[in-house]
This record gives sequence, structure tokens and C-alpha cells, in this order.
Amino acid sequence: MNDTDFSGKRVLVVGGSSGIGNGMAQAFRERSADVTVWGTRASADDYSDTDGSDLTGLSYAQVDVSDRAAIDAQVLPERLDVLVCCQGIVRYGREEFERPGWDAVMDVNITSVMDCARHHHPALATAKGALIIVSSVAGFGSAMGNPAYAASKAAAVSLTKSLGEAWARDGIRVNGIAPGLVATKLTEVTTSNEARMQASLRAIPLRRTGEPAEMAGAALFLASPLSSYMIGQTLVVDGGMTLS
Ligand SMILES: NC(=O)c1ccc[n+]([C@@H]2O[C@H](COP(=O)([O-])OP(=O)(O)OC[C@H]3O[C@@H](n4cnc5c(N)ncnc54)[C@H](OP(=O)(O)O)[C@@H]3O)[C@@H](O)[C@H]2O)c1
Repeated sequence: MNDTDFSGKRVLVVGGSSGIGNGMAQAFRERSADVTVWGTRASADDYSDTDGSDLTGLSYAQVDVSDRAAIDAQVLPERLDVLVCCQGIVRYGREEFERPGWDAVMDVNITSVMDCARHHHPALATAKGALIIVSSVAGFGSAMGNPAYAASKAAAVSLTKSLGEAWARDGIRVNGIAPGLVATKLTEVTTSNEARMQASLRAIPLRRTGEPAEMAGAALFLASPLSSYMIGQTLVVDGGMTLS
């Protein structure tokens, strides 16, 4: 068996119904894992490729992770080899400066990450599995219009370190990924605006956006024995955006 063969492994990607998480889910499936994804819509049929979704070969469950009871109501598998927390939202138009917008973003981007991690801890411990937390390069700096998004992502980087330290003794390796700019429904505000897009690309040394499959490369690495001595680290996968 090679290091990125996930035959016989169970993988759950929270936020795997579209975009980056969906790319990660498909990458695990292509390497023979049994993959479940969670998303917000009633059924898998409610997603299409225009959403950046390909649910072929994946099991799907509707779980609104901002509702802790909905997470806790999910049947815990006996063992879980990989949990990817890739859920995320952003609010524009200064909504994040007001309490409802702030709470909505915090609930999904950080509180639900802890809720998902806590719920699956026993199954991850049984499997001696890996938890991967998807944050953002926004967590390393300021985001003038999106204070909750940036704060939630900084918190996700911090949570990756704390859980990495706390759960190493249980045999669970916790690491993270901080993507740069990837064209998904979350970033449509930028990618559909020519001027904004050109300005963003100028700030990326590779002069292009990343692909979900390129984020998936980091996830496969962090879930595999290739990273067996890594704990609490967040890999920056941003085409060089944060170098200067
Ligand atoms: N795209 C980027 O440039 C970029 C950069 C840095 C970090 N990120 C991070 O990458 C992750 C994935 O984002 P994306 O860009 O791939 O955007 P996306 O396509 O909108 O994916 C977000 C995922 O989170 C799920 N989600 C949102 N709210 C949820 C809720 N209340 N309950 C359950 N699931 C929920 C979405 O479900 P539905 O499909 O049902 O909406 C979807 O699966 C996020 O954490 C984001 O912050 C993205």
C-alpha cells in the first residue's frame, strides 16, 4: 500500500458539498476512501457543478453545523480515519461589524469546528486518525471589511495548535491548511469583479488562483503517514500571496 492509498479508510469532509472541501472529498475518494460530506442543502441533488460541486461517489448528509444539536444528532461512526473541517462563510456589506453577522460567521467558522472536532474525537481516537482544519491566509492579517472572517480564521489557526497538542496523546494528529484565493461560491464577490480580480492576481506571485485540487494535495499529505511527525501546523497554500 502506498502512503496516499486510502483504501479501507473512512473520511468525513464537513463543508465537502462544494468548493475546496468538495475537491478534497473527491481526492480522497479517487484514492479509494469511503467519503461522506456534509453540507447545508436538503439532498445531494440540490447541488450542481455550477456550485463547484461533484457529489459523485460521495455519501451526503444535510447538517447545519451552526446548530450544535444537529452535529450531536449525527450517529458517530465507530472509527473515523480523517475529519476535514472545511465549512466556512463570509458576510459582506459591513454585516460582520454588526452582532448578527459577527455571530453567524463565528458560529460556522470557529465554534462549529470545535463542535465537529469534539463530536468525532472518540472515533478519531479509535482510528488514530487525522483532523484537518481549513483556516485561511486571512487569519494571518487584517481584513478591513471582514473582521469576523479574519478573527475566526486566526482562531482556527490557534485551535489547530491547541488541539494538536492536546490530542497527540490520543494518537490523533491535528493540522491545518490556510488557502489563498480559490474561485468558489465563497469568493464570487472577488472573482466575478474584473478590477478586484486583477488586483488580487497582482498580489499572487503565481499570478493565478489556486484550484480545489491543489488544496486537496495538502489535505492528502496531512492525512497520510507522510506527515506522521507533524502536529499543530497550518500549511499555507497560497501561490505565494503572503510572502511579502
Ligand atoms: N475560496 C477561497 O479563496 C478560500 C480562501 C481561504 C480559505 N477558504 C476556506 O475554505 C473553506 C471552504 O470554502 P470554499 O471557498 O470552498 O467555499 P464554498 O464553496 O462556499 O464552501 C463552503 C462549504 O461550507 C459549507 N457550509 C457553510 N455554512 C455551513 C453550515 N452552516 N453548515 C454546514 N455547512 C456549511 C458549505 O455548504 P453548502 O455547499 O451547502 O453551502 C460548503 O460546503 C472555508 O472554510 C473557507 O473559509 C477559502
